[in-house]
Amino acid sequence: MRIHIINGPNLNLLGRRNPEFYGKQSFPELMNKVQKYAQKIGLEIDCFQSNHEGALIDDIHAHLDQIDGLIINPGALTHYSYALRDALEILEIPIIEVHLSNIQARDDFRHVSVISPVCTGTISGLGMKGYYLALNFFSPIT
Ligand code: DQA
Repeated sequence: MRIHIINGPNLNLLGRRNPEFYGKQSFPELMNKVQKYAQKIGLEIDCFQSNHEGALIDDIHAHLDQIDGLIINPGALTHYSYALRDALEILEIPIIEVHLSNIQARDDFRHVSVISPVCTGTISGLGMKGYYLALNFFSPIT
């Protein structure tokens, strides 16, 4: 199982960005641990982060037919990027949307995800554990 993880705008600043919502662990630390966990549960893994919508879309296109599953935290693009949604819709594999914070319990504009309808499922509000839970979905072991 080849799993790709995509993180959108501002997630590179985890650890120093609103820790009450996003936790204290830095982004490189989180991705490092997530990659190790993925290998442990039998998954091949690679990760991409960008602050640019187009770069995220290019990355999705580059992975067409290359991966068996996608985990994506689109950051604020969640709430308005139809272009990202359209790119995800092209993939014919399971997609798990992950949010560290509970987007339903925050500002009104965060209550809508234009991404959710093209995803297999969504994990929101479970902090950094959300990434591990999403990996479990794909694991041949768990
Ligand atoms: C987020 C929630 C979004 O509303 C926000 O813009 C983010 C992070 C989350 O992980 O909780 O950048 O996707």
